[in-house]
Amino acid sequence: MKLSVGDLRVDFVSGAVAHRLRFGGGRGQALAKAMGLRAGKTPMIIDTTAGLGRDSFLLASLGAKVIMIERSEKMHLLLAQGMKRAVKEGGEFREIIGRMTLLKGDAKDLLAGLSPEAILIDPMHPPRNNSALVKRELRQVREIVGTDDDAADLVRVALKHAGNRVVLKWPAKAEPIPGIQACSHQIIGKSTRYDVFMLG
Ligand SMILES: C[S@@+](CC[C@H](N)C(=O)[O-])C[C@H]1O[C@@H](n2cnc3c(N)ncnc32)[C@H](O)[C@@H]1O
Repeated sequence: MKLSVGDLRVDFVSGAVAHRLRFGGGRGQALAKAMGLRAGKTPMIIDTTAGLGRDSFLLASLGAKVIMIERSEKMHLLLAQGMKRAVKEGGEFREIIGRMTLLKGDAKDLLAGLSPEAILIDPMHPPRNNSALVKRELRQVREIVGTDDDAADLVRVALKHAGNRVVLKWPAKAEPIPGIQACSHQIIGKSTRYDVFMLG
């Protein structure tokens, strides 16, 4: 199987991910706050939409154990390769990857067998009109996986299985996904927002 689309690769040890590791702002970052990481509290997380692994890597770099689920065969392989390279790099990269477990399959099927405190959902959203602005990498991922039209179903399944919270990452200005309940609160950034559904 062809493993890459263009030059798409999962890279944890240089570029944007490594930069964020150095200068990202720790647990003050919106994603960390949304997932419930704070001083003295580090939830076990399931990232149901692993993709390029960036969100999982960030959460693992802050100490969280993360189970990543990816259903696209190609994305799963790219991720596995990226994780292998990061382990080889050694040091803190090896340590961070040690907190990340990668599963292959549809999260809607796998969630029932796992009991996470916090679940992250970051589906591919429909293309925006100003598609020239969409990052090249994101376009390449879209070429592989298309759009995740079953995102509402995934949210509903996640709400059944999370112990503490479900977090939906979505474009800041986009309409809510139709057919799901209202969230408890939102953390809104420049381009991204986190809809947080508190449970229990
Ligand atoms: C927008 S990308 C996620 C990007 C990721 N958050 C990151 O930081 O790199 C969405 C990914 O989730 C995967 N995905 C979507 N729905 C899924 C599901 N139900 N189960 C497993 N993987 C899913 C897609 O194949 C795609 O690779």
